[in-house]
Amino acid sequence: MSDKIAYSRHGDIAVLTVRNPPVNALSQAVRQGLWDGMDRAEADDGARAVLIVGEGRAFFAGADITEFGKPPLQPHLPDLINRIEASPLLVVASMHGVSLGGGLEVALGCHYRIAVPSARVGLPEVHLGLLPGAGGTQRLPRLTGVEAGLEVMTTGRHVGAKEAHALGIIDVLQDGDPAENGIAYTEKLLSDGAPRRAVSEMPPPTPIDWDAAFEATLKRGRGQISPAWCVRAVQASVEKPFAEGLKAERQIFYDLMQTDQRQGMIHAFFSERAVSNLPELKGVEPRPVQQIGVIGGGTMGAGIATAALLAGLRVTLLEMSAEAGEAARNRIAGNLVGALKRGKINQKGHDTILNDTLSIATDYDRLSDADLVIEAVFEDMAVKKTVFAALDRVCKPGCILASNTSYLDINEIAATTSRPADVLGLHFFSPAHVMKLLEVVVADATAPDVAATGFALGKMLGKISVRAGVCDGFIGNRILSTYRTCADHMILDGASPYEIDKALEDFGFAMGPFAVADLAGLDIGWAVRKRKRAEGLDPRARDAAYADKLCEDGHFGQKTGKGYYDYAAGPKARVPNPDVMPLIEAERAAQGLTPREFSHEEIVRRYMASMVNEAAKVVGEGIARRPLDVDMTLLFGYGFPRYRGGPLKWADIVGLDGLLADIKRYAEDDPYFWQPAPLLEQLVAEGRTFDDLNKES
Ligand code: CAA
Repeated sequence: MSDKIAYSRHGDIAVLTVRNPPVNALSQAVRQGLWDGMDRAEADDGARAVLIVGEGRAFFAGADITEFGKPPLQPHLPDLINRIEASPLLVVASMHGVSLGGGLEVALGCHYRIAVPSARVGLPEVHLGLLPGAGGTQRLPRLTGVEAGLEVMTTGRHVGAKEAHALGIIDVLQDGDPAENGIAYTEKLLSDGAPRRAVSEMPPPTPIDWDAAFEATLKRGRGQISPAWCVRAVQASVEKPFAEGLKAERQIFYDLMQTDQRQGMIHAFFSERAVSNLPELKGVEPRPVQQIGVIGGGTMGAGIATAALLAGLRVTLLEMSAEAGEAARNRIAGNLVGALKRGKINQKGHDTILNDTLSIATDYDRLSDADLVIEAVFEDMAVKKTVFAALDRVCKPGCILASNTSYLDINEIAATTSRPADVLGLHFFSPAHVMKLLEVVVADATAPDVAATGFALGKMLGKISVRAGVCDGFIGNRILSTYRTCADHMILDGASPYEIDKALEDFGFAMGPFAVADLAGLDIGWAVRKRKRAEGLDPRARDAAYADKLCEDGHFGQKTGKGYYDYAAGPKARVPNPDVMPLIEAERAAQGLTPREFSHEEIVRRYMASMVNEAAKVVGEGIARRPLDVDMTLLFGYGFPRYRGGPLKWADIVGLDGLLADIKRYAEDDPYFWQPAPLLEQLVAEGRTFDDLNKES
């Protein structure tokens, strides 16, 4: 028998204990071990029941995701589960930690289920671009009914044991040791003469309007298809005999396994975990952080302070005056009310934060105890330098000095202090207590333990932290600035902002670039354009000034009620602002350009080509260490559709040679903007992909 499964006897009960750390994924060895364990129990004299229990953190975290995309290995999970369910012995699952995907499906193949109250169950396959492929779509609705079952599988959410008990997924809740609980429960079932109870033999649930449910789920998925296919699989559970339903589910599972969406989602799953795992920081101890300072209490500073307070850190927020300090406190209080409503904190936690762990100060000396200080003041080099000079004066030795700048040169800021090794960038995204991305900007002199502390802080705050090197805009804003410029070029040449937004929203972005600009505030892009013009634009660069006119008229997007769109009917009810197209037409006329038509395909292709090309430069220059760092930056900070994996995963899937050929073709009209990235040319020449680089790192 496989060493992943330990076999033992407790009276009449054969116990199969799963030992596959860290999370008991159902690898081939585990499946084989369970199969053999069932055989052995059935042949074991006097055994009347089988108990399946997990050792360590979980019952089962599901199928072994590392096996996906490779030829399937026997025994297949659906066969194993059918074999467990068909056993003449009584089979019981005792669940703790998580029982996810195939893990819950194993439990559903058992005849009875007991769980500790802290257990969580779920069918998260949709997050991998799949659906439950081992009977989950057939068995779960027989216990919960169609609507509750579909809700669980189309959202992929984790369901707490109490709710799962109420839904009929778990039979008994019992605190204590899962193995001991399971044995006691199985003994009771045996002594009560409880019958074998196969979920597959239960009557199918009541049908619903399947087409309506399919369409509604497809719409909610914003282009992601696997949740909608759960509806069709559940439909089969109602309309077909169990064995036929299982076949239908398996066919859909295999079809989804072949999709680009499955590749993209699984890339996202592993990259999300790999991104803050930097080889160069292995074994580097971060510095302890308990007390942090935040300079500036605007939207960003208050958001950063809120994130730190919610993570249990003590925060001193510095403002210029008592009034500004009070305004910052009110902003934080507003953020905390939101956290209270979402159940992130309770009333007591809320009150403790406001009355105890948060302090507002106007005097730099109050930061003398801080372990780490983050400045979030006005985006101006002279202002930043003044702040860092003051911090250098008051902060204790070893205190980490961080800037939240989005564009400015951290090396230049660090050089003005007497301790450049302690300086780094911590670039948060607004609202900082909500957005998941944190760019940890490692400057030339930043000490390794300072960089490690940036990642440790990110983890404490629940962020996805990405390492970035110093350049204008770091990883995310540098790439954004390029694809946004590409969008502006398409506007000059004939596309409208509304066509571009529609094409990219259909591609899967949460919002198109012009809707995003309205949300962020058009004044931000205006300030960047003014700065770049002041620094001197390259004479070969195309400039688009039409958006400046909107700003000059005081239209900054959602916050003023008008930008590219008009928000008179509310932020969600956007309609095109009628003033915009005349401004664009005037600019085209002034530049002597004749507008042409753009198809949605061309818009997406150009936009994505510019994004990938810049991303390849960012990786090639070492600003991002690996392609996956870029992918996670775009996913968690810029609304890139998760089911496409990230821009560089998307590029691998559509083919790097075709993309490079298109870039070269676009360069015939605008050689300055479309300079191919050397790394992209190299990969195409060598017949390799961005993912090959991820694997080498
Ligand atoms: N297969 C392979 N490896 C897995 C895994 C799985 N199903 N689940 C987790 N791991 C690995 C992670 O990659 C990670 O590895 P490293 O330490 O090398 O980075 C390690 O286990 C620990 O995972 P986390 O860091 O994520 O730990 P956590 O405590 O934060 O979360 C978890 C644990 C909730 C189980 C989370 O890992 C998770 O959600 N896993 C995926 C669960 C899932 O999607 N299951 C369904 C699989 S599909 C399926 O079952 C198809 C089917 O129907 C046949």
